[in-house]
Amino acid sequence: MSSKGSKTLRTKLCDMLDIEYPIILAGMGGVAGPTLTAAVSNAGGLGVLGAAGLSADQLRDWIRKTKELTDKPFGVDLLLPKIDLPPMSGKLSISELRAFLPAEDLAFVDKLKKEIGIPDVEIPEYDVWSDFLSGGKTLIDVIMEERVAVFASGLGNPESIVPRAHAQGMKVIGLVGNVKNARRVAEARADIIVAQGHEAGGHTGRIGTMALVPQVIDAVHPLPVVAAGGVGDGRGLVASLAMGAWGVWVGSAFLLAHESSIDAPKDWITNLGVDTYALEPWEIENWKEGIIAATEEDTRVTRIYTGKTARFLSNKFIEAWDKAGGKALPMPLQTLLICEAELGLRKARMTEYMAWFAGQIVGMLKERKSAKQIVDDMVEEAIVILKEKLPAEVKAED
Ligand SMILES: Cc1cc2nc3c(=O)[nH]c(=O)nc-3n(C[C@H](O)[C@H](O)[C@H](O)COP(=O)(O)O)c2cc1C
Repeated sequence: MSSKGSKTLRTKLCDMLDIEYPIILAGMGGVAGPTLTAAVSNAGGLGVLGAAGLSADQLRDWIRKTKELTDKPFGVDLLLPKIDLPPMSGKLSISELRAFLPAEDLAFVDKLKKEIGIPDVEIPEYDVWSDFLSGGKTLIDVIMEERVAVFASGLGNPESIVPRAHAQGMKVIGLVGNVKNARRVAEARADIIVAQGHEAGGHTGRIGTMALVPQVIDAVHPLPVVAAGGVGDGRGLVASLAMGAWGVWVGSAFLLAHESSIDAPKDWITNLGVDTYALEPWEIENWKEGIIAATEEDTRVTRIYTGKTARFLSNKFIEAWDKAGGKALPMPLQTLLICEAELGLRKARMTEYMAWFAGQIVGMLKERKSAKQIVDDMVEEAIVILKEKLPAEVKAED
């Protein structure tokens, strides 16, 4: 457990969320499990579990495990996209779900698989999709029952959840990539808006963070706004505060944390059902090495993994897909469409073709550290900038 550090870097966000520093761990699916979440909360930030793709039982286990590791507040992040499928419940087989896929798209992927040399694999049966397709309702019930401090919606509008959340004192965060959605989420009475810029890893919009954050702040005033996308160190934190954000929501900068990606349950189907089971150690290693080797130029935004625009480390599968003229189906069909190819890539360990989410700050991520060190370094650098560098370097008088 943490002990209170000697450094002070507080904003109104700290009072609102009962945390020490205005740093929130982005709820990264596949990365932010109980160990990383608790480590960030114990370090003085707010840890947020990336629960996208978990079943209701798995989510309950994660929340309880996190509570064992920290007595500080933490949150849970889910994706709540609008999807074009009828509500479903119960166990659905992959073959039933794949019946939604157009034959020509299946043929396209089959041809691509053969050209690349991806082996055939059997897709396992699982029922995670039923929770997802029913609008995340059972997952929301678990979050309410477990009385988590904060709920965050990474995609979509948390409108239907706000009244229940507020009734039990839970704060609601809505993540947006443009002003229109910021207004929508503000009208839904979310407590905090995360304005996430194009630089971000994972699902991302078209507007850069520097342009987006002030415009969202103006649009939803006096609602608190937290900046996201490309915040990698104390400089990004101070810049965000200077724009008027109350804090930062940080994803990629935690990818090299010792605690990242290690908690996934063995029967977890990652990435909204895209892949297969929990990441194995060689895969986490490969991802981290890929990040260390990457420059700021080495990420790509593509729809081919989830049907929505998302930023990944560049890989040969994206290249091959684009070269063959592939189009993406809407979420969640696209994930079903390519899940067999992804499984085959993993089975054959074709690492150059594998997909790893990451943001444009990868070029400055070179060192593996503990989550606490990442938080401490960010806070320390921010304090030096605010107390020493800016006063020494900027002359401002009126
Ligand atoms: C590996 C990874 C997984 C992510 N998964 C999710 C997710 O499941 N839900 C979500 O709301 N955002 C997800 N995101 C986006 C983050 O919440 C966050 O907005 C983004 O990482 C911020 O930009 P940065 O990567 O430049 O810090 C993910 C990002 C990364 C890098």
